[in-house]
Amino acid sequence: MSKAFYVTTAIDYVNGQPHLGHAYEKIIADVIARSRRSLGQEVFFLTGLDEHGQKVQQAAQAEQKSPQDYCDGLAADWQAFARTLQLTNDDFVRTTQPRHKEFVQAMLSRLQAAGHFYKASYTGFYSTKEETFLTEKDRRPDGTFDASYGDVVELKEDNYYFKLKAHQAWLIEYLEQNPGFVQPDYRRNEVLGFLRNNDLEDLCISRPASRLNWGIPLPFDPDFVTYVWFDALVNYISIPAAHGDPAVTALLENPAQAAAPAIQYDLWPAALHVIGKDILKFHAVYWPIMLRAMGLPLPRQILVHGWWQKDGAKISKSTGNIVDPIAVINEWGLDAFRFYVLRELNIGPDGNWTDAGFRSRYQAELANGLGNLVNRSLSMLKRYRNGVVGAPSKELEADAQNAIAETRTLLESNQLQAALLAIGTLITRANQYVDQTAPFRLAKDPAQAERLDEVLYNLTESCRVLAVLLWPFLPGTACKIYAQLGLDGAPDQFSQAAWGQLKAGHVIGEPAPLFPRKDI
Ligand code: ME8
Ligand code: MG
Repeated sequence: MSKAFYVTTAIDYVNGQPHLGHAYEKIIADVIARSRRSLGQEVFFLTGLDEHGQKVQQAAQAEQKSPQDYCDGLAADWQAFARTLQLTNDDFVRTTQPRHKEFVQAMLSRLQAAGHFYKASYTGFYSTKEETFLTEKDRRPDGTFDASYGDVVELKEDNYYFKLKAHQAWLIEYLEQNPGFVQPDYRRNEVLGFLRNNDLEDLCISRPASRLNWGIPLPFDPDFVTYVWFDALVNYISIPAAHGDPAVTALLENPAQAAAPAIQYDLWPAALHVIGKDILKFHAVYWPIMLRAMGLPLPRQILVHGWWQKDGAKISKSTGNIVDPIAVINEWGLDAFRFYVLRELNIGPDGNWTDAGFRSRYQAELANGLGNLVNRSLSMLKRYRNGVVGAPSKELEADAQNAIAETRTLLESNQLQAALLAIGTLITRANQYVDQTAPFRLAKDPAQAERLDEVLYNLTESCRVLAVLLWPFLPGTACKIYAQLGLDGAPDQFSQAAWGQLKAGHVIGEPAPLFPRKDI
């Protein structure tokens, strides 16, 4: 059985097409997954879809489809989107799959038997749009509810509740003693502030099946379904169960009935949940308490990213203020898109997409920076030396070593923007080196033949090192660089970055522009 670095994303609601925010989160997780694999770790990367709930039920009705048909149609689009982004996910969960639903039911039975739930009656104002009861605090000064809640109706109903309150003090202590549990720090402080200043309310986990049937039936009361958090969060352990993870199959009534997959994984506790700031409370408060009630260890870390705006305003389909990732990728290429979102926005704060900002980074950092370096280095080797690599030289070795060491440390702590900056210093250094050594001048002087060989070696080898460092971020570009260098395979192992692996006499392939300049 293999112990894997288990990384997850939020599972997205299937109520429309994927947008920039969804793409961003999946790319963060993919770069982390690829980095860890490159560094030699076994990785299991999970992403997927959250398919139950009233919004989906209503959207399906509006299209006169069954909820399952509606979800199946959109799920195909989202899975195609994951391939467009070249995500290296090891599985794709859909919460309507039997493997997930059966696990959720087993877990609910277990928690019910252990006395973690109770049934109670509640009267309140309900927002269908947000699928939540609103409180007096949600009212505006004039007594009405914000339009973002949609239609708000008064409801009285019985439901099942999960006893959250009892765990509040424990969770505060856990967060205090485990500063790395929620990152960045200010997000952890937000959770601690919330817990210290508010009494937790018990969590409603059900809806009457008469009102919402697009959920998972409670195994101990078929008049109710569970939906949203007791359904969605559990994907992080239902899929490990499907892969035979003993930590979670032990929760099943009859573990012997669990699937016996060909490859059994040891996944739980997850190494990392990557999520957006809006679902922090669910992941840093509800989820740890649910896990504690189930007797499972907590994930090692929750990494919280900020939200994208476009042109300084909220991304919104209704106002048309959107970035269509697929349109951007079709026009500029996948790697340009992956590069921009991670280079522009550190994991944590909110970001702002502008088309002008995107173009200017493309031009400056990809076309003129990386692209120009690789193209002129390889073209000169081709022109002056017929593409044959000379004897190894160490002039840029120290610069490369610095970039390699820094990138490794930053990747190990998921600092993706900083890693791109560290890699960028080697690109800048190598481009300066071209200007300083002026190989085009050396080439005119036969007495400088040896010097020219040295310079060309340092440039070619720098391009090779860069391909390895960039592979988690720009997998297609990194592979193209390797192919242009005439090297087999992918630059997907970090150890390949070590200086001096290009051998004298090696013949490179055909140089071609990596990032064609665009007329703007
Ligand atoms: O919340 N910028 O699904 P979701 C950055 N199903 N990230 C954004 C964003 C933006 N403009 N808009 C959304 C759900 N996101 C639940 C999750 S997990 C067990 C269940 C992020 O489709 C958002 O923060 O509304 C979240 O992490 C993810 O996209 C899915 O959002
Ligand atoms: Mg959301």
